Amino acid sequence: MIERTFVLLKPDAVQRGLMGEIVGRLEGKGLKPVAMKFMRIPKELAERHYAEHKGKSFFSGLIEYITSGPVLCMVWEGENAVASVRTMMGKTNPQDAAPGTIRGDLCQQTGRNAVHGSDSVESARREIGNFFNDYEIQEWKRSVDPWLFE
Ligand code: RTP
Ligand code: MG
Repeated sequence: MIERTFVLLKPDAVQRGLMGEIVGRLEGKGLKPVAMKFMRIPKELAERHYAEHKGKSFFSGLIEYITSGPVLCMVWEGENAVASVRTMMGKTNPQDAAPGTIRGDLCQQTGRNAVHGSDSVESARREIGNFFNDYEIQEWKRSVDPWLFE
């Protein structure tokens, strides 16, 4: 099933110069970018994005971290894109994330885990709506698609 997922490269990924590496992995997988925006997340939007974690001990630190510098917000499309990106990201705690995953290869701690990806198609729809207007999403054909999708 072709799906869309929301991916956020967090401030640590930007500061560490890992945007190219992570975008490269997603491109290499054959996922198609349909939206990208480099921005500083306002506190209100950060709290809405991570609303499910409100009240948890790490919430205020999480909001501080995610609003601490610019992030790269993206929407990627592809086969089973939501689960596919979660697999590529690896477990939340980089110490538990398998080698070969973004967090397993590139990160040290849970609180600096470089990347966010939607955890369900429903979350993806909500998160994409939180960050992008319809006109910021590009519907486009890629000439290599017949070599990725039969
Ligand atoms: P994300 O939402 O960012 O994609 O990460 P996730 O699904 O793998 O993990 P989630 O449970 O949704 O947690 C969201 C983010 O909060 C920070 N966190 N810190 N110190 C802690 O115990 C703790 N737990 C979570 C991480 O940045 C995590 O990615
Ligand atoms: Mg999450």
